[in-house]
Amino acid sequence: MRILFLVLMSISSTLIHAQRLQFFSPGKNILLQLDLGNQGLLQYAVHYKNKPVIEASSLGMQFKEPAVRLDRFKLLRVDTSSYDNTWTPVWGEYATIRDLHNEVKLHLEEFNGSGILVNIVFRIFNEGVGFRYEFPKQPRLDHFIVANELTEFAMTGDHTAFWIPGDYDSNEFTYNTTKLSAVDASVSKTFSEIAAKTFFDKNAVQTPLMMKTSGGLYLNLHEAALLNYPVMNLVLDKKNLKFSSHLVPDAVGNKAYLQTPAQTPWRTIIVSDKATEILAANRMILNLNEPSAIGETSFIKPQKFVGVWWEMHIGTGSWDYAGSQSGAALLPHGRHSAHTENVKRYIDFASANGIDGVLVEGWNVGWEDWFGKWKEEVFDFITPYPDYDIKELTRYAREKGVKIIMHHETSASVTNYERQMDTAFRFMKEHNMNVVKTGYVGYIIPRGEHHDGQWMVNHFERVAKKAGGYGIMLDVHEPMRPTGIQRTYPNWMTSEAARGNEFNAWSSGNPPEHETILPFTRLMGGPMDYTPGIFQTRMSTYDSSKTFRVHTTLTKQLALYVTMYSPIQMAADLPENYLEHMDAFGFIRDVAVDWDETRYLAAEPGDYIVTARKAKGNPNWFIGAITDENSRKINAPLSFLEKGKKYLATVYRDGKNGHWDHAPADFVIEKFLVDQKTIMRLELAPGGGTAISIVPASAGDLKVFKNYK
Ligand code: NOJ
Ligand code: CA
Repeated sequence: MRILFLVLMSISSTLIHAQRLQFFSPGKNILLQLDLGNQGLLQYAVHYKNKPVIEASSLGMQFKEPAVRLDRFKLLRVDTSSYDNTWTPVWGEYATIRDLHNEVKLHLEEFNGSGILVNIVFRIFNEGVGFRYEFPKQPRLDHFIVANELTEFAMTGDHTAFWIPGDYDSNEFTYNTTKLSAVDASVSKTFSEIAAKTFFDKNAVQTPLMMKTSGGLYLNLHEAALLNYPVMNLVLDKKNLKFSSHLVPDAVGNKAYLQTPAQTPWRTIIVSDKATEILAANRMILNLNEPSAIGETSFIKPQKFVGVWWEMHIGTGSWDYAGSQSGAALLPHGRHSAHTENVKRYIDFASANGIDGVLVEGWNVGWEDWFGKWKEEVFDFITPYPDYDIKELTRYAREKGVKIIMHHETSASVTNYERQMDTAFRFMKEHNMNVVKTGYVGYIIPRGEHHDGQWMVNHFERVAKKAGGYGIMLDVHEPMRPTGIQRTYPNWMTSEAARGNEFNAWSSGNPPEHETILPFTRLMGGPMDYTPGIFQTRMSTYDSSKTFRVHTTLTKQLALYVTMYSPIQMAADLPENYLEHMDAFGFIRDVAVDWDETRYLAAEPGDYIVTARKAKGNPNWFIGAITDENSRKINAPLSFLEKGKKYLATVYRDGKNGHWDHAPADFVIEKFLVDQKTIMRLELAPGGGTAISIVPASAGDLKVFKNYK
């Protein structure tokens, strides 16, 4: 169905006069304005509820081959259409997702006679705007080498930004909160301790970039459907408060190689006057991605897992056989963790607690050389260490009803991994495994390529495709940050691509505000394997000389299972630490990993988030509420519950003296009867959180428990 667009000035194909075109989102709150100057300069601007959000900003491309600057255009034709369709994700935060937008396609030709054809396509949603460049088959050249993309995003003022420094290889930073004018990637206090650091410009930041204007608008810039193209960083022109795209280069400094027909990812602008609506608008990014390319998806199963993992990060165990390679080089080295008896201990714990998977890191030969030695042949992914009886463990796991999760640390030796991949995936299937956690620690081998360049973007897509063909699910560490392509490759369940919980084990770690920012930034593009669930927060427990710690209360770790979405979630702590608090572990056991419905009850980036989600296929709801370093009282109305029904709420909250620093394990568990009219008064400790499970009350519950007051 066609809908009416408001076109203020007429579209002429003669191009003698400057033209202005205006288009609205279906709900009319977003206005896209396009200006074509009489010298062919094309600029776009975005308004939200009559307020400017993006000022006039230019569009274009600098090509190296052919040597053409594509920034002046002749308008050949404008196509408009509207779209309203509801689709069903394989897994996710919602049972179904509505894609409602208006599309404007500008058919353009380069102004100065090169003959280059380009379409710039805009999709206008009620949540924001996405646009991309499309290069159809060309009359002359059929390929382009991109030297730079010339997309601008002009800000309307000196907004508050939640940023991490621009980088070609890592996103494992804590966030800086400053005015745009104060962005300085060179003095960022938040360098990544282990990750490659490829500083290139002190005014560069990464996306998703979250901002707040002095007028109370929330604004998020990112990209969608990043395939066969490099990651976009943003470089700020501080005088004009204008961002320009900066693409991650390849080993010889080129940005991208495009064979026509080709297209860039979508550049996304999400805006709202409510922070909670920004979080919900991650659906716009999914809508800009293509449907599943994996034909057969029945093998894909959201799940929880434990792992032989935290021991290496806290330094009581090691990846390598000799026991010298732990994550915490400063801690005393323990023993090789991935030995048969130790793995059985984790299998037993998983089996007893309804956990599907057991990750085992350090099971295969090669960890002596895994990092920093720049060797190309490190791992073969099929040769276990002598103390890892893979046949026996395959049998044992099967008997106990759990699956071992494979670990492929590539050590960033990517061509080596591509050579081994088929063998490695076949080996997994032979041993009854269908989930692999991959890793790319260090600079990419062969050297020169970057984690975020087109070459690696294509590698990750090949892995997703190939794994899909084998019926294998992926949890990828150290990839580029997601852009919604989990819609297209739903077997790519989750990624790290940000600073995870592990940093707390061996570095200054993540401040309490970190998890209140991530959903507004990194998670806008897709799920994160944050590895929540650390109950023993003090590393001094393992080595009295250590001050490292997780900056959290115990119940905040529970709330993260709801606030940090991932369809595959780790319970990251040691079984012995869980055995000490099996009452609190009850929440991890019960919480869902796949959802019908998601509601953001309250949120402010850097301060707090309260998220409620309904489990897929059953009436249970779960709430996660987290705060930064400040204590907080927040009301959570349960109006989403079914009318007239009584539910039993189990509340896991911080105790009276709870505090991330001096009383992280002071917590209380209470049960109440609640219904649709209940308003829960949440009290979060500094660095704290509340987790609530809500299930239909049984006849017995109605007798035993009191109404929440
Ligand atoms: C870094 C990953 O983030 C971590 O989870 C893993 O244990 C190590 N690399 C070793 O592969
Ligand atoms: Ca990592």
